[in-house]
This record gives sequence, structure tokens and C-alpha cells, in this order.
Amino acid sequence: MNFHSLRLRMAAWYAGVLTICLVIFGAAVYLGLARYLDSTVRSSLRNEAQSIGEKLMVDVNRKGDKFIVGEINEMAPEISGRFIRITRQDGSILYQSPTPINQRFVPARIPLLKNWGATPFSLQDSQAGTDTLLIEAVPFVAPEGNSFLIEVGASAHDIRTTLHGLVTTLALGVPLIIAIAALGGILVMKRALHPLDEITRAAETITSRNFGERLPTLKTGDEIERLTTSLNRMMSRLEDSFQHISRFSADVSHELRTPLTILRGELESLTQYDHLSPAALEVVGSALEEIGRLTQIVNQLLEISRLEAGQATREVTIVNLGEMAIGTAEQMRLLADEKSIRLDYLVSSEISVMGNASLMKQVVVNLLDNAIKYTPAGGSVELLVESKGDKAVLEVRDTGIGIPAYALPHICERFYRADKARTRHSGGAGLGLSIVKSICTAQGGELSISSKEGEGTRVRIEMPRVEGRAQSADSNTAREYLRAER
Ligand SMILES: Nc1ncnc2c1ncn2[C@@H]1O[C@H](COP(=O)(O)OP(=O)(O)OP(=O)(O)O)[C@@H](O)[C@H]1O
Ligand SMILES: [Mg+2]
Repeated sequence: MNFHSLRLRMAAWYAGVLTICLVIFGAAVYLGLARYLDSTVRSSLRNEAQSIGEKLMVDVNRKGDKFIVGEINEMAPEISGRFIRITRQDGSILYQSPTPINQRFVPARIPLLKNWGATPFSLQDSQAGTDTLLIEAVPFVAPEGNSFLIEVGASAHDIRTTLHGLVTTLALGVPLIIAIAALGGILVMKRALHPLDEITRAAETITSRNFGERLPTLKTGDEIERLTTSLNRMMSRLEDSFQHISRFSADVSHELRTPLTILRGELESLTQYDHLSPAALEVVGSALEEIGRLTQIVNQLLEISRLEAGQATREVTIVNLGEMAIGTAEQMRLLADEKSIRLDYLVSSEISVMGNASLMKQVVVNLLDNAIKYTPAGGSVELLVESKGDKAVLEVRDTGIGIPAYALPHICERFYRADKARTRHSGGAGLGLSIVKSICTAQGGELSISSKEGEGTRVRIEMPRVEGRAQSADSNTAREYLRAER
């Protein structure tokens, strides 16, 4: 699971905000309910105290204390769990309810109130016995003038039980709601972001070779449709500039060829003059050399432009990679011999690919040329053609100077040379690997280069392998492995 995905991040935010809202809501409900229950119980206690005063205590002098005690006992406070106490002004107790049958509090432990005024008031909760008690005290003055304090109380146990039930419900319900909401959020986001997956997949397949393709636009009218439309417009603009640059570089190289040819012809005809001094001849010779280099660069640039324009896909045949590689290597053996470099090959002759034969040959020439050029005398170069699954692999290894790590990512760029100082004398323009890369891309191959400075380089090309014999197949080379050493 990708924890950085937009889908999960949005769902996490959603669940987080919902958690905060639900916790605030739960706390508000808890506090509100606690207040409401407290005030309801207190007001009913006050009413009871007032009605005891108004209905019983008005006749206290006439009917006597015993009557009052009997009347209140008939209310059975020990069963209803009520605390009732009537105190005379001198502090003596007229009535005190017995310990309730649920034993939640002990009335005798509830302290007497010393100073009480004429208005009803609420006592501090008493810790009497096991339970917290809510007590309302109402002063009462009988018609004869003697005053009493009527206290009525009830255990806070029921309120606590109700609040505890609410907390349990919230503790179970809130995580469940959040889990369901988060899951729903992930599913909704998955649906909403599904077009993005398709757009990403389509964008991955667009390269410089199929620049004309566009991202799929779903007519949903939302932000994603706007995004794809804008991206497609941007790609159209980029395609225009890209084509412009390609055309420009193709046109420039094409246009340069004719003047270069004329220049070469004219300089060559100059060398025919008898009266040219040896110094002038040397200058003309050097100019001809430079023109040769320039012509090669122009030709290579033209080649890359053609490859990028997709012209390599014409004239495609089945090419026997092994035979072609050996043939090319043999032609280049002289170069290796000149530098006393050992050239080995381990080539399977049964491997064929679909491609343009002369371009494939150019790949081998460029890779071997680099390997020989950048390997000091006495080193060795190895050419390998083998199959790996459904792929054909062509690999050139050398024991040369290697490529520094900083240069590796740029090595296939046009005109890039790893170390201009060290390669100046070898005369390369830095276009060889660009051509190899363009040919590989054009023919569905993959190029990978690994190298260690001072130890050597390994260039590997993987192409889809095809079954079947190449037209030029030669029975002499149809052995499983050919090994040749100089
Ligand atoms: N086998 C190799 N060993 C060491 N360095 C290499 C090797 N192959 C390529 N390079 C480095 O990569 C650079 C680019 O290679 P590329 O073949 O594109 O250009 P070049 O050989 O310099 O010139 P050109 O091929 O156009 O004549 C080279 O200049 C060299 O620094
Ligand atoms: Mg080269």
C-alpha cells in the first residue's frame, strides 16, 4: 500500500477532521446532558422540599411532630432512596429519614447546616457513606413564626450511570463511524481518482516517437477533464516545437553537406597546383582533415534526425544478430590489433532480431569503436551475443578507462564526451552513443551502460528476439557458439 497516495492522504485527512468533530460533539453532549440531569434532579428535590413545607409543616403546631413524622414515613423515603431531614431553628432534628434499603448513603453522616437564611438554597454535595448526594435545602417559616430547614436529597448514582452509558456508547460508536467514513472516503476517492491512473498510464507510453498521441479525456466536466485538456494542449505546443527543432537540425545538416562537398573538392583541386609551397600544402591538408571531421558530424546528425523521424522502421528484416556481430567484429579486428588489444567474442549464432541490418551493424561498429578507443594498449574487449528469455542480448565489455559516475547519465546525449581533455586526441564528436541510443529506441531495444572508472565499461542492448532464419544465414555459422580469439 502506498501511504503517500493522494487517495489515502485525503481519506486520512477526512477521518482526522471527522474525529475532531465527533470528539467535540461527544464532549458537548456529555457536558450538556450532565448539566441538564443535575438541574432536573435538583429542581425536583426543591419542589419536594417545598411541598413538604406547604402541605405538612403548615400544621406542625396543631397536629404535632408525630403526625409529621408519620406522614413523611408514609412516603417511604428508604424505598425511593430519598434523604429527608427537617431541622428546627435551635438545631434539633424534627425528622430524619432512615438509611435507604440500597445503602447508598448514611443519613447520620450528613453534617447539619449551621446558618440558613430565608431563601431556598442548594447544599454542597455531601460525601455521605458510599455515594455522592445531591441535597436541596429549603427554609420554611410556619404561620406561628417558628422556622425549619427542610432538606431533601437523592443519590447522584443514576446520573452517573446515565453519563457512563453515554460515554460507553460514544467510545464504541465514534471509532466505528470514523472507520466506516474512512473506508467510504477511500472508495469514493478511488472512484474519483480512477481517471488519473489512466492518464498516468497513457502519459508513460508517450515518447518522442509517438508524440502525436494524446491523453484520454473523459467528459466529466470536472478538474481532471480540465487538467487533461490543458496537458493535451501543452503537448500539442511541445510537439510543434519538437518537430520544428528536428526539422531544423535535419535541414541544417542537409544544407551543410553540399557546401562541404564543394569545399572539399576545391581544396583537393588546390593540392594539384605545382607551385604550392610545402607549408601551404600542409595547411590545405589540415583543412581537408577538418572538413572530413565536419562532414562526418553532419552525416551523423542527419542520421539521428532521420532515426528520430521514424525512418529506421523502413526496410526491416530478420537480422541474424550473431552472424552480423561476428562479421563486423572481424572487420574491426585491425583497429584492435593496431593497439595490441585482445578482441574476443562469445556469440550464439541462433539469435535473430527484427530490425534494419545496416543500422544494427552501425550499433556494433560504434560500440566496438568506443571499446577499442577507450581501452589502453594491452587491454581486452569482449563481444557477447546471447538470449535471455524472449530477448536477444548484445553486450560489449572492455577493460578500458571507464566512465566517471557523474558522466554516466549524460553519455548518450549529443556531443557529450565524458572528459573532453582526455578524448580530444581520439577525435570523437560525442555522437556515437546518441546514434546507438536512437537506433535502439527506433527498433524497440533497450540500452544500458554500466562502468567503473579505471576498470572498464559494459554496454548492453536488449531487443525482442524473433524466431526464424535471416535471409543471409550461412550454414557455416550455424553452430551453437562461435568463439574466436586473436
Ligand atoms: N567504452 C567506453 N569506455 C570509456 N568511455 C566511453 C566508452 N564509450 C563511451 N565513452 C565515453 O562516452 C563519450 C561519448 O561516447 P560517444 O561514442 O557518443 O562519443 P565519442 O566516442 O567521443 O565520439 P564519436 O563516437 O562520435 O566518434 C565518449 O567521449 C567517452 O568519454
Ligand atoms: Mg564513439
